Amino acid sequence: MICSVAPAKIILFGEHFVVKNYPAIATAVNLYSKTCIYEYDQPIVESKQLGVKTILGVEDVDQKFKQFNVAYEMIKTISGAVEGFYAVIDSEIPVSAGMGSSASTIVSFIHSLLTYYGLKPDLDLVNKIAYEAEKIVHKKPSGIDNTIVTYGGTIYYRSGSMERLNIDWPNDLYIVAIDTGVKRDTGMVVRSVLDLYDKYPNILGKVYEAAGLLVDTAREYLLNKRFMELGDLININHGLLVSLGLSTIEVEEAINMLKKIGAIGAKMSGAGRGGIVYGLFMGDPHKVRSMVGFAGKIYLLKPINEGVKSIYQ
Ligand code: PMV
Repeated sequence: MICSVAPAKIILFGEHFVVKNYPAIATAVNLYSKTCIYEYDQPIVESKQLGVKTILGVEDVDQKFKQFNVAYEMIKTISGAVEGFYAVIDSEIPVSAGMGSSASTIVSFIHSLLTYYGLKPDLDLVNKIAYEAEKIVHKKPSGIDNTIVTYGGTIYYRSGSMERLNIDWPNDLYIVAIDTGVKRDTGMVVRSVLDLYDKYPNILGKVYEAAGLLVDTAREYLLNKRFMELGDLININHGLLVSLGLSTIEVEEAINMLKKIGAIGAKMSGAGRGGIVYGLFMGDPHKVRSMVGFAGKIYLLKPINEGVKSIYQ
């Protein structure tokens, strides 16, 4: 049996603007997806969360597994392998919420299948295959999701290239994410934002420019340990996303709650229109525990350095 795990991610700054080649900053966090592969006579993939399985490499692959089929076909071509396998995907990352569940599961699948076929799971190759697969789900992905879950750490990402940020995260800094429970389709949300941009290019051009400046400032603050000052930038970034029509009542409620219990700043993260919001906290996390009973699901997260890797069970 071969197993690989990949982390979840939080986009700290710059989502959506990154689709139009402005920069964004994302970090890998300590929630994981895992793929384990067993010997089998046909290529099968099963999702524990969805409670479904399908055969790959056939014409009418189940819609939910299209990205796995793209990855499988690419790996088959690269490796020349013909053997079947039984891949089981298990994940603790909420689905369609903005924490990179689709990128994390496809990356752990690709990493484990390359290993199963006896190839070195080179991270650049994993990332390249994952990007092609993500196109099936998101239509016009910026590539930030597959990149951050493949390499881990905290990255400054722009137009397909990344800079790894060596950040000395304080031990008492943590990210609290609330899943509003409102599911959305990233591809559809991205398209509606691009349509709005096409309607008002002169106005939104300025918003995108502001977002670019904001992300560059956030990069400086992170590198220079000016963590407390990130709060303003987080809040302004949220405002810019609101101007693109991405907030909802549930999102605003969750943000207000995070601010009420002392977040330095709070914003939606990922595609928006639901999904997760995050707040940045310094100090004792006990206040967060007082949120038990709040309608959304709460995650206490830490930035992590490692991306996808093999695990031995
Ligand atoms: O909601 P998620 O995790 O799929 O994040 C999408 C991030 C966007 O910037 C909105 C789209 C992209 O491809 O970068």
